[in-house]
Amino acid sequence: MRRAIFPGSFDPLTNGHLDIIRRSAPLFDEMVVAVLNNPDKNPMFSVGERCEMIREVLPSVDTASCTMLVESFSGLTAHFARDRGASAIVRGLRAVSDYEYELRMALMNRRLVPGVETVFLMAGEEYSYVSSTLMKQVFELGGRVEGLIPELVEARMRSKQT
Ligand code: PNS
Repeated sequence: MRRAIFPGSFDPLTNGHLDIIRRSAPLFDEMVVAVLNNPDKNPMFSVGERCEMIREVLPSVDTASCTMLVESFSGLTAHFARDRGASAIVRGLRAVSDYEYELRMALMNRRLVPGVETVFLMAGEEYSYVSSTLMKQVFELGGRVEGLIPELVEARMRSKQT
């Protein structure tokens, strides 16, 4: 059984995240989308709301024969991966600017739990500039984000404004 985790803040889920899920799913039998419980970061969505949105959107993604799970976690990603019996941590790389931060995390995670490898996937070019932070900023300032985040997520962002 090849099990991976795909950790992140997912505040909110973007089409860039879904692109990485679609690309990585055929490589694994089971993948846990692992939503970090980070209350001190003052997120737009609670961890419960983020998990719920991911669960609702996931069926629209072709995840091959990979079983998809959505779970929240607190603490270290490496420890969560170990405790869930995962052999891999999936992360997406959008541009060279992601590399330094991701390399540091991958090396630290490997030091923490040597049996778990980080697997990097290249994001689709169309999502190379898409981040949750940018989507929230553009949305909050009245810009258009259609096609960059799932419609359901956009609707939930709109309902937060009212
Ligand atoms: O979606 P993000 O914000 O890029 O995800 C970053 C995340 C959640 C993967 C990273 O912040 C993380 O792993 N946080 C959990 C705490 C941890 O393990 N820190 C040490 C990383 S080496």
